[in-house]
This record gives sequence, structure tokens and C-alpha cells, in this order.
Amino acid sequence: MILDGNQPDALQQAAAALGRGELLGLPTETVYGLAADADNDAAVAQIFAAKGRPSNHPLIVHVADIDTVTRYAREVPLFAQQLMEAFWPGPLTLILPRLPQAARASTGGQDSVGLRCPSHPVAHALLLACQQLTAPVWGVAAPSANQFGRVSPTTAAHVAAEFGDALLVLDGGACEVGIESTIVDCTRGVPVLLRPGAISRDAIEQACGMRPLSREDMPEHTPRASGTLLAHYAPSAKVRLMPAKQIQTALDVLGPDAANIAIYSRQRMHTSARGVLLQRMPHEPHAAAQELFAALRAFDDAKVKLIWVELPPESADWEGVRDRLERAAAA
Ligand code: TXA
Ligand code: MG
Repeated sequence: MILDGNQPDALQQAAAALGRGELLGLPTETVYGLAADADNDAAVAQIFAAKGRPSNHPLIVHVADIDTVTRYAREVPLFAQQLMEAFWPGPLTLILPRLPQAARASTGGQDSVGLRCPSHPVAHALLLACQQLTAPVWGVAAPSANQFGRVSPTTAAHVAAEFGDALLVLDGGACEVGIESTIVDCTRGVPVLLRPGAISRDAIEQACGMRPLSREDMPEHTPRASGTLLAHYAPSAKVRLMPAKQIQTALDVLGPDAANIAIYSRQRMHTSARGVLLQRMPHEPHAAAQELFAALRAFDDAKVKLIWVELPPESADWEGVRDRLERAAAA
């Protein structure tokens, strides 16, 4: 059932459902989440079951404010504090050392916890309503609301398509960011970028004075992060990344008989084939991120067999979009 997330009644109903240990489809500025009380192990187990996700893959815990971090994190290094102050509420997740009793099932038993304070007004209002419950819910665990390995949802209708009508979903409109939060591991003394997102490597460096390392820079470091598995975020159609010129050449070779192909490119492409779906990708990286997953879902709905995507630029501001497309292409 989809409820308007801007209605106070709907927020109360959703907070009460979380308090009872039920699941909720939750809008955030990045993507929609499949939410449960982070400290209720049985509720969290339902998330893993519904998604078909291995239960040792840790979930992000969403909090209403910076103060609530001390309920989950044992320690907050200075650079993590600086990142929270610069980017919260917003699309940044910080991995911090976990307090032993907190969010055990949500973290898959790891000694760290991923925390994020979302900026979406509906998510924020819900987190505040959860704090007001007679038995308050302080942290809301929420992975992206998609079946394991599939494209993340950016509308309430996408969530309903993944989990059916029985799930209570708060409708908060189309997500503004469109790709999942940037994840920074803050447990290693220096910031390590685990997942690129709208908050870029450059922005992180500016805020804390340290250039974030990459996972590959830490050879011994293998976090169980499903967003970091290759071949994640895949539509049903086969995705291929190519330079614009190569796409145009392939279209020219196939000629009017080309069929069941979607082209998603920043540059304009030409074809005489009627069976080819031409769609332009925005030239600006944030706009491209905002519509990326919805575009991939729409190509699937159009029943194409191939999606040819123009390689995004190499610059830091495109890192999030590039990462999602590379994973989709690896499937
Ligand atoms: O934008 C987002 O982050 C969305 C919205 C709903 O907030 N959530 C999201 O969750 O993308 P999910 O579960 O699809 O991805 C969370 C990522 C996973 O790759 C997970 O393994 C990683 O965060 N993660 C969470 N806790 C972690 C921890 N303690 N250590 C390492 N990685 C962690
Ligand atoms: Mg996910």
C-alpha cells in the first residue's frame, strides 16, 4: 500500500509500523530504502529475507541527527566528525566502530556500523516520529528497496514493483540524487571511499583535509559490502559501455535491421532502424545520476535485449554514475 509521505497521519502510521517490528518502504534523497527498526533483530531478519540478501551483508542505519550517532558508534574520529558537519543531513554514509550492544543484526555482527542522516524531508520527519514513540526507535536500518542484485528504486512505484502491494510504502516523490549514498570507511585512521556517490572524492577532501583512499589501496581490506560486488545494479537487458564513436559505428553496421537495442548517450546518435530506442543521457553528472536507475528500469519495461551506454567522462564528479554503470555492465 502506497501512502502520501507528506501526510502527518501516514507518518504516524509508518512510525508505528516500524515500532511494531514491521517493514516500510522509505523515500530518501538517494534511493528508496526497505526499512526496519535497526535494534530489532527479528525485524531486520525480515529485510534480509524479503530482499534475498545474504544476512552477513551489513545494512546502513539511518539516524535523525548527529547526536544519535553516540547510540551506535563507539568512537568518532575527528575527520568523521568534520564529514558529518559538512554533509549531514545528506547522501553520505560513514562506517564507524560499533557499540557492542547496538544494531547487531543490522551490521551482520561486524564490529563496525554504517550510519547516515538522510536529508529527504519525509525520511527526516519519519525518523523524528520514531524518536517520539513510547518505545522510541533511534535507528532505522534500510538497504535499497530492491531484490538482491537488481537496480535500486527511485520512486514509490518501483518499490511496489519489487515487493508487491502488501508492503507499506511512504511516497516521497522521485529521489533527487538517484544513486546510493557515498560510503566512507572511518575505522582505519584515514578516510577510505567504499562506494562513490553524489558527494565526490574532491568534496570529501575539501571538508576534512584528507584525500580519501580507495578500497584497492587497502589490500587486506575486504568489507562485505553488497554494493561493492561486481555485477550489482543490473537490469535484465545486457548493458554494454562504449565510446560514442563505437556506438555510432555499430549502429551504422547493423543498419535498418537493428532491433531490441536501447542507446543511452550524451552525444546524439543516428539510425534508420525503427527497433532502436534512442535516449539522451544528461550532460551534467548530478542530472545523469538522478535519472539513471529509472532509465534502466524503463529500458527493461520496453523489453529491449541490449542497452548500449556511452562511457561517462573520467572526472571525479562522474565517479558515482561510472561505478553503477560498470557494475551493471559486469552482470
Ligand atoms: O543511499 C543509500 O545508502 C541507500 C538509502 C536507502 O539510504 N541505502 C543503501 O543500502 O544503498 P544498501 O544496503 O543497498 O547498501 C549499503 C552498503 C552495502 O554495500 C553495505 O555492505 C555497506 O553499505 N555497509 C553497511 N554497513 C557497513 C559496514 N559496517 N562495513 C562495511 N560496509 C557496510
Ligand atoms: Mg543496494
